[in-house]
Amino acid sequence: MKSANILPTPDNYVWPRGPGIAAAEIVDGQVRVTWSHGPHSRFHSVWLRDNCACDDCTHPVTREQKIDLLDIDPCIAPAEVALDASGGLVVVWNQDRHRSLFDPGWLYAHSGLRSARPVPQRLWKAADLDAPPTFDGPAAMRDDATLYQVLSAITSYGIARLRDLPTVENTVERFALCIGKIRETHFERIFDVVSRPDADSNAYTHAELPAHTDIPTRETPPGLQLLHCLVAEASGGESIMVDGFRIAEDLRQQDPAAFANLSTVQWTYANRAGDTDYRYQTPHFVVDARQNLLEVRLASFSRAPLVADIDVVEESYRALRLFLEMTYRAEYRMQFTLAPGDLVVFDNRRILHGRKAFDPATGARHLQGTYVDRDELLSRMRMIEHRRARQAVAPAASE
Ligand code: OGA
Ligand code: ZN
Ligand code: ZN
Repeated sequence: MKSANILPTPDNYVWPRGPGIAAAEIVDGQVRVTWSHGPHSRFHSVWLRDNCACDDCTHPVTREQKIDLLDIDPCIAPAEVALDASGGLVVVWNQDRHRSLFDPGWLYAHSGLRSARPVPQRLWKAADLDAPPTFDGPAAMRDDATLYQVLSAITSYGIARLRDLPTVENTVERFALCIGKIRETHFERIFDVVSRPDADSNAYTHAELPAHTDIPTRETPPGLQLLHCLVAEASGGESIMVDGFRIAEDLRQQDPAAFANLSTVQWTYANRAGDTDYRYQTPHFVVDARQNLLEVRLASFSRAPLVADIDVVEESYRALRLFLEMTYRAEYRMQFTLAPGDLVVFDNRRILHGRKAFDPATGARHLQGTYVDRDELLSRMRMIEHRRARQAVAPAASE
């Protein structure tokens, strides 16, 4: 329930107050808002009317739309605008004299002036980041403030490490559930990374694993991978992490033809688990319509034959070799040793991970892992932000 001093928004959340509205006026049939710190924003009338939060337009309980866009006049314009006593924007429309009230924090959050990304992405090489950003594990499991820092580090650097967690099985599941739902795959929900004779993946041997992303055989590979170290007695087995986005951006600058090839030619990855046959065909660098990187995929040990016109095969192999070769360059490789009680979380669609071979004759090595999707992390961060905003606005009503 929203408390009395919080204005309705077309969702369930309390938005940070923002700078507040100093003035509102009608300009050319649209609404122009002056924020108290000076800048202006213009809001299109159809957009505003479409986002009306009143009980007729937004269901009071579900907060989903009741209004049908087709019932809004495409030429709708404000008849009057004003500010109400709590600083909200009131618009009375020329269609049906409908009255809308907009929360200034919600409006500011959707004005384009407030960054949608709470923390900037920082791409790194080994010289920038020689170990994962590290946090106290029990604190991250206990309090949202530390958890938020961990999730911010993952958003920014693609990786974080928790230390001093108990060396108790299923701790990785307990921490994963602090973020959100587990993403299940053809591996066990909580998988044990140990060397075993019936391995269905090279991960379950003692061999070196080249820097890779997990499960590029799927349309959507898991967004986050979590690995918790229970036993680290064997010699070797050091972890390697590589920022795939850093390599991709460097390639974009240094060899645009290779970047163009890697972001357009589809390669296939196929799993060999035996009882499933996942395979997926997509470029190694997945970009959006503006050429921003969304995802990097690579797993040399599950690459399937390239299906491409013979004329593009040579350049495709050249580009792939170059990408692979860069993952072996020391300048891109963060190397560290997992100690019992350590847990690393990384963005499996950005960070390539690997490990050095280990010698099972020298002792045991046991990690437990699981996956969570990227948007679980984003949702958890937003929920923590909404709770903070609610506490700032109405401390008593927020419990
Ligand atoms: C994996 C993996 C790394 C390691 O299980 O996917 O890459 O350090 N493991 O064993
Ligand atoms: Zn309405
Ligand atoms: Zn892996």
